[in-house]
Amino acid sequence: MNSIFNSLGSNYSFNFVMLALKQIISDSDDNNSIDELHKYLEKTYNGNSYLFYKGRDAIEFSLRILLSENEKDSNIKGKVLTQAFSCFAVEEGIKRAGATPVYVDIDSYSTNMAVETLNKAFAKNPDSKVVLVQHSLGIPVDIVSIKKWCKQNKLLLIEDLAQGIGGVDSVGEHLGKYADAIIFSFGRDKIIDAVSGGAVVFKNLSEKQKQKVEIILTNDLQKLANNIIFKDMIYPAITYFSRMTHDVLIGKIILKLSRSLGLITSPTISKTSKICLMTSEYAELIKRTFIKLDKQLVHRRKIANFYLDKISNPNIKIVNTKTNIETGSNLRFSIRTTQVNKLIKLMKDNNIYLSDRWYRNAVDCGKQDCSSAYKLGSAENAEKLASEILNLPTHQNITLEKANKIVEVLNKF
Ligand SMILES: Cc1ncc(COP(=O)(O)O)c(C=O)c1O
Repeated sequence: MNSIFNSLGSNYSFNFVMLALKQIISDSDDNNSIDELHKYLEKTYNGNSYLFYKGRDAIEFSLRILLSENEKDSNIKGKVLTQAFSCFAVEEGIKRAGATPVYVDIDSYSTNMAVETLNKAFAKNPDSKVVLVQHSLGIPVDIVSIKKWCKQNKLLLIEDLAQGIGGVDSVGEHLGKYADAIIFSFGRDKIIDAVSGGAVVFKNLSEKQKQKVEIILTNDLQKLANNIIFKDMIYPAITYFSRMTHDVLIGKIILKLSRSLGLITSPTISKTSKICLMTSEYAELIKRTFIKLDKQLVHRRKIANFYLDKISNPNIKIVNTKTNIETGSNLRFSIRTTQVNKLIKLMKDNNIYLSDRWYRNAVDCGKQDCSSAYKLGSAENAEKLASEILNLPTHQNITLEKANKIVEVLNKF
């Protein structure tokens, strides 16, 4: 059996690799796929959509629109209640908008914030303007209660679907339904993985906000460099061939070489520092991946249910529940152990590579240094979960046979 990976381009099929390579020679001025993606998002999520190079661009843009007091305002102020147990990319988007992240702890039994933890953070920061929620690892947050809370306290709600696309809430409505703005990231290892890409859908823009949109889109964008697009479009090929040949050393060499040549870099660090518009190459990949979303969700759910049924080691705590497997996107299946590094090593000895775990810290910066606004000790549950969590893969390359191999190693641990 081939090596098993959590990430390393595991969402890509051979056809996807070829489609990405084809984008390098296709006409990048052809805006058909951009138009089609706009139409799809606007129909599905019922609002005005804007497409960007990264999810964090969409976060910056949405805050600059929602928090600006007038259309000429270039200096946004305002506190954003955002979740500890997240990645630095979210904070980067908030800070780039000029807003201030205020970290909200997760609850003790899930991977997401809750009304109780929101109350605590809001009591200390009553001047907060926005709540930014995420559905970490595909487990839906209790969005019905959070929406109610936002309404009572007069806060705007931004719902980040980067990891939750396709999930439903406790009353069966699609995630994103109650938000003032919905954020998407189509970056590496997300549900819709097009190597990169971001979007926002606004539900109700005022005339002033529409003017602000035009001002930013006309004056304040960075152009996406061709070499960035080129590297992104060859990423599926590099990872596909290195996964295929990993067991015979060639894959490891391809990977090492690609990293030293700068062809593969950390997804946490953006190669751009301002808002960039999405180009047609990414839109084409995103559009094609959305077509297979339902099939993907069924597969992920099947694998998650398999883990839930078969893991029997009393030393392993399971984070997912039957309910959130049925309602969520199941991006990954989460377990907890107090010996996470030992378990990662045991997995690796069995050719199962799970070290890319979400999240290693309350605010995860990958292997890079970043100066996060998060204050150590301020979100106990997030820190504890980050020290214990390990995510099992549910992507398309995980057959029941492979899932069983993972379970066998786990149950002997
Ligand atoms: C929940 C969430 N939102 C937003 C982002 C930002 O994504 P991007 O890398 O596209 O900026 C990420 C990235 O990992 C994420 O996990």
